[in-house]
Amino acid sequence: HPPNHQMEESSALRRADCRAKGGAPGFKVAILGAAGGIGQPLAMLMKMNPLVSVLHLYDVVNAPGVTADLSHMDTGAVARGFLGQPQLESALTGMDLVIIPAGVPRKPGMTRDDLFNINAGIVRTLCEGVAKCCPNAIVNLISNPVNSTVPIAAEVFKKAGTYDPKRLLGVTTLDVVRANTFVAEVLGLDPREVNVPVVGGHAGVTILPLLSQVKPPCTFTPEETEYLTNRIQNGGTEVVEAKAGAGSATLSMAYAAVKFADACLRGLRGDAGIVECAFVASQVTELPFFATKVRLGRTGAEEVYQLGPLNEYERVGLAKAKKELAESIQKGISFIKK
Ligand code: NAI
Repeated sequence: HPPNHQMEESSALRRADCRAKGGAPGFKVAILGAAGGIGQPLAMLMKMNPLVSVLHLYDVVNAPGVTADLSHMDTGAVARGFLGQPQLESALTGMDLVIIPAGVPRKPGMTRDDLFNINAGIVRTLCEGVAKCCPNAIVNLISNPVNSTVPIAAEVFKKAGTYDPKRLLGVTTLDVVRANTFVAEVLGLDPREVNVPVVGGHAGVTILPLLSQVKPPCTFTPEETEYLTNRIQNGGTEVVEAKAGAGSATLSMAYAAVKFADACLRGLRGDAGIVECAFVASQVTELPFFATKVRLGRTGAEEVYQLGPLNEYERVGLAKAKKELAESIQKGISFIKK
């Protein structure tokens, strides 16, 4: 017998509603670009997240297929698919968290900035939808170049009169995830025990790991510092080259995106002491946006932490990072302003 989709969906939504009313945490999450290389594993991991009651999967291709597939998983979240621009508003209405991995990824030889011309327009359109349909949602922006797409999103929200800097977060978690892994390798530790703050931005030299602040406390030789900093800054390129034209990091990125989204949801729920690195509006440096540790709470990034003490190597790195970041941020702002 063909399943009665309408009945299945309405009873599933009733269940989700019930859970929400019963006080159990149940957040509504949309993924824009859900059929992509990042989007699909990200959607699967969010379908497994117990904090999610409703999962909206939006893409310009293949959203119904991905949704049908995921909807058979016997987890709590209800998955609903939305295909193409005419369904963007339904996808966004009522969402608590919107995760955006829509856009083209790098091929070998490309920088993240080479993606600007295509992805800037995609991010603008999607953020216009957010401003209209769920202006209070937390936005996790993954689409590259993050150093420019976050300023683009901020300008779109300012124009719409909905901008709240606490709710707009550029996802840099993959840099932290990589840093934890590579540092653990050098120290001979379990990566789960290691925490490396990574600040600045999300491209090349703007990715600044603070190896002097690694937990547990440890020291590195100058050679180790040089090796680790380079490997963390070029981790994305390592994957792009290994995939040889088939795209950039998707699986580790989906893992990182879920780690970050889950932290945002725990913050929304009111958990205390949720701290992650993210690229946000910031007064830590003279730049309008900068990635540092932030504390996530009911209203988003409620506190932006200072850099803490840097060593000489990190101070030199910071100067380089700020120079490139300033240009990328300006490029994003001008894209909307002109
Ligand atoms: P992909 O090409 O596999 O998937 C992108 C998806 O976006 C596709 O399904 C496509 O149909 C969809 N899409 C295109 N235009 C759209 C629109 N207007 N509305 C909704 N969906 C649209 O690319 P992949 O590998 O998933 O990467 C996505 C983005 O994430 C890229 O910009 C990539 O550079 C970025 N990225 C960011 C990272 C980070 O750390 N922040 C790490 C890795 C990738």
